Amino acid sequence: MELEWQLDFETGNEYVDLQHRYFVDLINRVGINFRETNDAAYKEKLISELRKYADFHFTSEENIATSCNLSGVGSHHQRHSELLEEFNHHAEDLKKGLTTVDEFLDFLTDWFVGHTIYEDQKLFKAI
Ligand SMILES: [Fe+2]
Ligand SMILES: [Fe+2]
Repeated sequence: MELEWQLDFETGNEYVDLQHRYFVDLINRVGINFRETNDAAYKEKLISELRKYADFHFTSEENIATSCNLSGVGSHHQRHSELLEEFNHHAEDLKKGLTTVDEFLDFLTDWFVGHTIYEDQKLFKAI
């Protein structure tokens, strides 16, 4: 099932929202491509693309928050580190065949939506 952009996802910061929109699109695209291939190396690169974008986004989001003089960037950074660890854990399970791609995508959707709606909004809307 495709993840669709919702107004609820908006933080009000145009750069953060732009990156979140790209992330939603990337999750959907990787989901489609992953299902369509049996090439293990390609599958790994798709997961790597997601991980790298998440890592980039987290750093960029922290820099944007710092440039806006928002408080709580330190604890938000801590959350981002935990989220990356969670991602790596699930990606590892997927690679080992302990979870299905559908389960991985469900995790990814909850992971993205949960953080964006509750934690990113809290950071950016506290202005
Ligand atoms: Fe974010
Ligand atoms: Fe965040």
